[in-house]
Amino acid sequence: MKNIYSRIAGTGSALPEKVLTNQDLEKMVDTTDEWIRTRTGIERRHIAAEHETNLDFCEQAARNAMQAAGVGPDDIDLVIVGTTTPDQVFPNMGCLLQQRMGMHGCPAFSLEAACAGFIYALDIGDKYIRAGSARCALIVGGETLSRMTDYTDRGTCVLFGDGAGAVVLQPADQPGIISTHLHADGKYADLLYFPSGVSKKPEDFLAGRDFIRMKGNEVFKIAVHKLGDIVVEALKTNNMPPEQLDWLVPHQANLRIIEATARKLKMPMERVILTIQEHGNTSTASVPMALDVAVRDGRIQRGQTILLEAFGGGFTWGAALIRY
Ligand code: ACO
Repeated sequence: MKNIYSRIAGTGSALPEKVLTNQDLEKMVDTTDEWIRTRTGIERRHIAAEHETNLDFCEQAARNAMQAAGVGPDDIDLVIVGTTTPDQVFPNMGCLLQQRMGMHGCPAFSLEAACAGFIYALDIGDKYIRAGSARCALIVGGETLSRMTDYTDRGTCVLFGDGAGAVVLQPADQPGIISTHLHADGKYADLLYFPSGVSKKPEDFLAGRDFIRMKGNEVFKIAVHKLGDIVVEALKTNNMPPEQLDWLVPHQANLRIIEATARKLKMPMERVILTIQEHGNTSTASVPMALDVAVRDGRIQRGQTILLEAFGGGFTWGAALIRY
């Protein structure tokens, strides 16, 4: 029997209209446009309006990806949404997306792996397709981090933005997803976290008194190290020299982290997809949004080899080597 692989049949993304610039932030906390640009690479980020939710962006990103793939709601037979900011605890975001889009009966679930959530979801979607358990998987990464950001804390509020990205996976004779690589290490839980939840300190959670906490400097160093290792792991597994990569699509957390990963791969920055200046850090949405931007502006072409990578709270980290 022929091997089944999965391939990305279409990509999509969605951003809130509202923009928060570095100049806006200068009026809110003790910071400067210059500090934010030189330390992070971020110039502006999109923020959900009060009436908008994560689901709105996930829906739009999903519709765009499905249109690009030429598939409709009846074709989708698996929905996975990576997110740490779901609209509700349950129904899960996959089910809420089904309800919005008129999909009925297929498995649908959310997955929480912070900024690496989309890579985790892609890994699972790929395995469903390879196993023959799905033929048209909708994989979404969506986030409204602004809803868990303290806009009086200059150490975090300059970083985060909102948005969603999506891909449709379908079976193929040749690998589209060549390999995926996932890691996690809970020993770093205290370096980047959201303190409360439904079960722990629910009063703070329900009162909206809690925000993202991060020891930025320590996170930075470990992110550089782990991402450097995982891109090498992805290439070594496939005996692929870095010169064969057409594009690096990195998690957009900090331009300096991205530059360090590109250096590790000896890739010039012209072959790295950057959206951080416009999007900020959108956690699990950042990789699929960057992928979609570069597909739609024509930089990423069919047949090219692309490395996706992400790192986030947990810590969780992952990479996917793909032939688009
Ligand atoms: N404006 C001006 N000064 C600031 C700001 C700001 N917005 N934020 C911090 N500073 C100050 C600090 O107070 C400190 O001042 P001090 O020296 O007087 O104490 C100084 O700048 C340096 O602070 P550092 O934290 O050492 O700055 P650093 O160069 O590390 O940059 C940053 C901070 C941008 C947060 C960086 O550490 C980073 O990007 N970390 C990684 C973030 C990340 O990758 N997160 C993972 C994904 S996110 C997720 O999973 C949800």
